Amino acid sequence: LVLVVDCGAQYAQLIARRVREARCYSEIVPHTITAADVKKRGARALIISGGPSSVYAEGAPSLDPDLFTLDLPIFGICYGFQVMAQVLGGTVAHTGTSEYGRTDLQVTAPDSAVFAGTPDTQQVWMSHGDAVTACPAGFSVTAKTAGAPVAAFENVERKLYGVQYHPEVMHTAHGQQALQSFLHDVALLRSDWTMDAVVDTQVAAIKAQVGGSHVICALSGGVDSAVAAALVQRAIGDQLHCVLVDHGLMRRGEVAQVTRDFESSTGASLRVIDASARFLDALAGVTDPELKRKIIGREFIRVFEGAARDVLDEATDAGREVDFLVQGTLYPDVVESGGGEGAANIKSHHNVGGLPDDLQFGLIEPLRALFKDEVRRVGIELGLPEQLVWRQPFPGPGLALRIIGEITHERLEIVRAADQIVRDELTAAGLDREIWQCPVVLLADVRSVGVQGDGRTYGHPIVLRPVSSEDAMTADWSRLPYDVLARVSNRITNEVREVNRVTLDITSKPPGTIEWE
Ligand code: XMP
Repeated sequence: LVLVVDCGAQYAQLIARRVREARCYSEIVPHTITAADVKKRGARALIISGGPSSVYAEGAPSLDPDLFTLDLPIFGICYGFQVMAQVLGGTVAHTGTSEYGRTDLQVTAPDSAVFAGTPDTQQVWMSHGDAVTACPAGFSVTAKTAGAPVAAFENVERKLYGVQYHPEVMHTAHGQQALQSFLHDVALLRSDWTMDAVVDTQVAAIKAQVGGSHVICALSGGVDSAVAAALVQRAIGDQLHCVLVDHGLMRRGEVAQVTRDFESSTGASLRVIDASARFLDALAGVTDPELKRKIIGREFIRVFEGAARDVLDEATDAGREVDFLVQGTLYPDVVESGGGEGAANIKSHHNVGGLPDDLQFGLIEPLRALFKDEVRRVGIELGLPEQLVWRQPFPGPGLALRIIGEITHERLEIVRAADQIVRDELTAAGLDREIWQCPVVLLADVRSVGVQGDGRTYGHPIVLRPVSSEDAMTADWSRLPYDVLARVSNRITNEVREVNRVTLDITSKPPGTIEWE
């Protein structure tokens, strides 16, 4: 176990993912963790993350100094590097030379474990205002840059290493190698975090947890619930009962596709409940995005509870108490709900399957320790088809968030038709994996004048929102090829009668969110 000590911002998750890419299991812990806790957790190495503060600022994240007396290999990054310097008796100062972005690093100790086998001059990604101006006693400098005379240091005997730059980001050319060298050559960790091992461990854990009970799972069509269900199915077979609540807000053909893909690859039993009329009724006249989410969440729970009761009554002796509910909770959700100090609630995310506490079920969350890319690898390991495993994110409340205005059957059909064209063209252009997702939004209360054939039209605009992202926390708009955009625009305005204009959203996140509502 490698513990990533979180000193703030979003660096820690990325570091934890990189550690796992080196096939070493890692977890994130707050910077307030004590040396005693680290010991109790049985950690074999620590990585101290970057963070937004200056080590001298009031309230800056501090560390238990005893962490450094545990005789554990420690790697400090950016802020973590500076805290290490400060705690161990070096000096950190505001030198007036900041470095942000791409920077040339001069390796001054090519034999250092961290730089072994990498070039003497290499490109790294920096983001710092303060700098370490003197190493602590017993340390030696291993690299420098124009603005940081101490850009990396080490104390080989104590297995303490640190770098000013960010090895975890893509723009640092040999960053992953530096982390791996630390993990494998300094901390002597083996690469045993593999997805087949995860499957075996989870299957055994689920068996032990469930015993002879029955388990219910809400499938949403998304990757997480499908992989979670497939894992549980592998463990307990037909004690698992899956329900897919069709709220009528899915894209064209989606329910049928998901059902087919899931059933054929897992053999699990899946019941589809068509509740579209009920959801549409409940949403009549509603335009406020948060109210839409609340209504959908509420209706979902009611429908699911009813269906769960029926399914379980049929499967077991009527009336007996049952039992467990599968949730596709991922590691970032766990980290964020544990940390998240002061994190603003931008949108109340309704996850299909995000059910209230007063449901009488125990929870099975077999993906709690996993990042999204790992969930996909587990899915492949379990034999789920590619199109399910690589399905792009789609929000639980579905197309309700993509019709700006009231949701009606006609409007759903318009947005479905446009969405189908966009999906077809992106797939045909081989762009599915390049973009994160591409919401197609109908501005249902906006009309503009157009001309088609000989006639004047007064139709609605469609907005395309293709984005690239690593985790949906931040995103950039995708630079789709003009010819693909042209084809999409042409087809939508020709094939979807009510639409006479196609526009492209070129806003990053922040400030815009990915969905329009
Ligand atoms: P935003 O719009 O907040 O979206 O930038 C970030 C990611 O979350 C998805 N999303 C949701 N998913 N329930 C969900 O399950 C929701 O209410 C919801 N709102 C947004 C969105 O598609 C994107 O992937």
